[in-house]
Amino acid sequence: MSDLRTLAVVGAGNMGSGIAQKMATEGFRVLLVDLNQAAVDRGLANIAKTLDEGVARKIFKPEQAEGIKSRVVGTTDWAQLAAAELVVEAVFEDLGVKKDVFRRLGEHTRQDCVLGTNTSSFYVRDLLDVTKHPERVVGLHYFYHPAKNRLVEVIPTAVTSKAALAKAQAIQDAIAKTPITCKDAPGFVVNRYFVPWLNEAVRLLEEGKANIATVEAACKAAFGVGMGPFELMNVTGVPIALHAATTLGRELGAFYAPAALLAAQVEKKAHWDLGGDVVEAAFDVVVDRMAGVTFLVAGQIVDEGVGTIDDVDLGARVGLRWPYGPFELMNRHGVAASVAMAASVAKAWNLPLPKCLAGRSTPYTFALVTTTVEDRVATLTINRPDKLNALNEEVVGQLDAAFRAAAADPAVDGIVITGKGKAFIAGADIAYFVERIKTSRIPEIVTFTRNGHATLRAFETCAKPVIARLDGLSLGGGSELALACDYVVATKKASFGFPETSIGIYPGLGGTQRLSRRVGTALAKAMIYTGNVVGAEQAAKMGLVDAFVSHDDVAATIAALVKKGKPAARSVPSAPPTGFEAMAAPFATVRAKDLSAGTATAATPDVAKTYDRVKSKAPVALALAEELIEASATLSIDAGIEAELGNLTKIFSTADALTGLSAVLDRTRPTYVGR
Ligand SMILES: NC(=O)c1ccc[n+]([C@@H]2O[C@H](COP(=O)([O-])OP(=O)(O)OC[C@H]3O[C@@H](n4cnc5c(N)ncnc54)[C@H](O)[C@@H]3O)[C@@H](O)[C@H]2O)c1
Repeated sequence: MSDLRTLAVVGAGNMGSGIAQKMATEGFRVLLVDLNQAAVDRGLANIAKTLDEGVARKIFKPEQAEGIKSRVVGTTDWAQLAAAELVVEAVFEDLGVKKDVFRRLGEHTRQDCVLGTNTSSFYVRDLLDVTKHPERVVGLHYFYHPAKNRLVEVIPTAVTSKAALAKAQAIQDAIAKTPITCKDAPGFVVNRYFVPWLNEAVRLLEEGKANIATVEAACKAAFGVGMGPFELMNVTGVPIALHAATTLGRELGAFYAPAALLAAQVEKKAHWDLGGDVVEAAFDVVVDRMAGVTFLVAGQIVDEGVGTIDDVDLGARVGLRWPYGPFELMNRHGVAASVAMAASVAKAWNLPLPKCLAGRSTPYTFALVTTTVEDRVATLTINRPDKLNALNEEVVGQLDAAFRAAAADPAVDGIVITGKGKAFIAGADIAYFVERIKTSRIPEIVTFTRNGHATLRAFETCAKPVIARLDGLSLGGGSELALACDYVVATKKASFGFPETSIGIYPGLGGTQRLSRRVGTALAKAMIYTGNVVGAEQAAKMGLVDAFVSHDDVAATIAALVKKGKPAARSVPSAPPTGFEAMAAPFATVRAKDLSAGTATAATPDVAKTYDRVKSKAPVALALAEELIEASATLSIDAGIEAELGNLTKIFSTADALTGLSAVLDRTRPTYVGR
């Protein structure tokens, strides 16, 4: 236990217990502190209950749940906080109580311990004057249920040190959260538009524009949400909505202040009555107002520098589980029409139209790839964490541009490619493929893939070393992208896998050419035919990963590899890597068509089982993968890539490709017909 890193949470209530649970789930030891033992025990019981539900729903194995429980240490002894790297305060929303806690934290924690507050309605800066070393204070605003909802708003103050902010963010990554950075402003990013969204629903009711059932139905249709604003208020608490709107109104003015009917409902201590007839004729009025309010506030957030358009949208998708964030919604509704909706709300409240909206008619673009440069190393981060950084035209386009800029930058010696959140890259965007096949636009898939190849070849031909940093899942196109990098640096959370033949296609982004250059043709076939995912440690033994390191050693390892420079080009080895002969041998000479027909002769019962699993894969995909992997031994990389590209139309035109790819989206098991 003692070698685990220690974090702490003060306040073992609804939020605190859930935050502690998540930290322990991701392998940290967590001190859970409250006023008295009864409150601590309530928090521990809360965690046990959530974990038991998780076990019943098969999210956790019983032994995993026990492990998580064992890592949470409940205590009322503040002296223990001296062991913590980060403390999150989640006590009552009362400034006096919070100040008292921060005063005590200043006395009991190490000087380099980051102090986070989960406050929803106060400024983070309100807590600075009572704290020793205020430069280590940040806001860490989690969302309910904090063991399940991945979003966290990270809020530095004007005095937060760079080191404290970096540490707070790194720990959010390590506990598998999706952080967005916000300014210390009322409502931060998400509540700033979500609370007005709830409030506006009540105003529509108050004005008699629509009944509750109509507002619910119109919002579900327009925003693609499972629950409308009234049902959500019933679930999360009508008084919380009133409190949040009151706070925003006090800071930001009448437009944000609660509707009178909201206060009246809280007086009545009642839920909203969701019954009534839906009046479709009123939908337009409802949607214009609800969307107008959302777009107006989203624009204010960006204009005021509280958050970027990417973070506004990510916050909605991850924190609120909206399918689209406000800016993507504007793109989908048409930007000019959306701006008009916002303008009409702004006019009604005598507010200026935000600059980022005014006069705009072209779609908003999102930073799907971000670049940071530190110590002469550029890190290109794919920024679609809620989609596991899946590759589509926009992502590849932005990655290409970011890469070429870094390659040309004289202040950069090495380039790192990584993904935000729990995945490196989960592969290509399957929905993109399915849509193109169904609408007879397979040539677009070919162009997309050709462009992807050009980017990956640029990694190889660039004079600077290019490093894939894998700290999470990589599948298909993600693993192929990593193979095109000069070096792969991976932590224990990373994995490699080529599931394409299970979903009706073959690895088309160089996987049939570059995997064999790392592990030989027989092991490449084993991996591509079976689709088995290998963990980073095993991948390192195979030679797929160049450095298997702990999270803390990643930066130093990358610096050393940049110094080492570009490695020599790889050619296909004639034998599999040492230790993997038994895995490779069954695939050295067997023919794909015999595996598909079930006529391959297996040397042992285990091999027979493996062959049987391969029999369920798409036959055309297996046959083409075989041809391409074998060709890799003699073709140059460019000729091999052309061969992969040359078969794309054929594979994507098969019935099996549509079946396999659609099965991923429908979460069904495909059955292949061999054409
Ligand atoms: N509930 C939500 O959806 C939500 C979402 C985001 C943020 N927040 C914020 O999180 C914080 C906690 O909210 P909650 O819903 O978990 O509250 P809660 O009432 O469930 O829990 C608060 C806990 O803090 C403990 N506590 C109070 N004073 C203390 C002190 N001086 N020292 C140690 N422990 C103390 C209480 O005993 C209690 O266990 C608040 O600031 C709230 O605004 C809540």
